[in-house]
Amino acid sequence: MKLAIAGKGGSGKTSISGTMARLLARGGQNVLAIDGDSNPNLALTLGIPAERMSAMPVLPPDLLRRTTEGAELTQSLDQIKASHSVSGPDGVQLLVMALPQHANTGCLCHMHATVRSIIDAVSEDGNDVCILDTEASPEHLSRGTAIYADAMLAIVEPYFKSLETGRRMAALANDLGLERVALVANKIRDERELEAVQAFAERHELELGGTVPFDAGFPGAEHAGLAPLDFAPDAPAIKAIDEIAHRWAGNGNGRA
Ligand SMILES: Nc1ncnc2c1ncn2[C@@H]1O[C@H](COP(=O)(O)OP(=O)(O)OP(=O)(O)O)[C@@H](O)[C@H]1O
Ligand SMILES: [Mg+2]
Repeated sequence: MKLAIAGKGGSGKTSISGTMARLLARGGQNVLAIDGDSNPNLALTLGIPAERMSAMPVLPPDLLRRTTEGAELTQSLDQIKASHSVSGPDGVQLLVMALPQHANTGCLCHMHATVRSIIDAVSEDGNDVCILDTEASPEHLSRGTAIYADAMLAIVEPYFKSLETGRRMAALANDLGLERVALVANKIRDERELEAVQAFAERHELELGGTVPFDAGFPGAEHAGLAPLDFAPDAPAIKAIDEIAHRWAGNGNGRA
């Protein structure tokens, strides 16, 4: 199962991507997490200590070569994982798309194309999961980076601009031909907020793929420099993300 996680800035994309990746890996699946944000911080949510982040490999530009048909990877996915991934807690393998070190060095189109081909190369075996954490813009959809994902979850908070961003991203994902697209309501504090998201989803004929309650443990984990899963493993938000992870990418039911 190949899952892209999108949404407005700060909606919780990275928190949900990283926690899902850990929980699925803990359940025995082979999880490849791709940090597709050019300001990467998925590693922290996965529980990779901040000290290790400075030495973290970033995908090099020579992994993709242009061909007459388009483009192809210059290494197999196994070679790419062996040379360029970091292994995190529970065995999640992390690839980082980019981390610009200097100003004025140009666009990241080529790296988006590299990530697109990597996602294409992930096997369709139900035990293999790829989770793409995206940045807070429609780039991964407008550039087609997520075109080989099976599904996209747009993480939304219960306020209009966030919901509207999720709706626009869902429309782009449908346009890209993704099989399944849904909103996930995050940081929900009460029934009224949940009803607002449900009403929005219904009005726009969008599936609501899950609900995650507001959980002070998430910002708390960040302050402590820990993954949310390690900070408060029994929190209701972790349980909610576990349900979403298994519903959307669990072995055997990822395409349900
Ligand atoms: N369910 C939740 N309850 C409370 N706080 C949350 C929840 N989910 C995420 N947060 C907090 O919201 C903030 C933004 O989360 P996160 O970095 O995951 O969002 P993002 O969408 O990846 O942001 P960006 O657009 O910058 O990549 C963080 O401080 C995180 O701890
Ligand atoms: Mg993020």
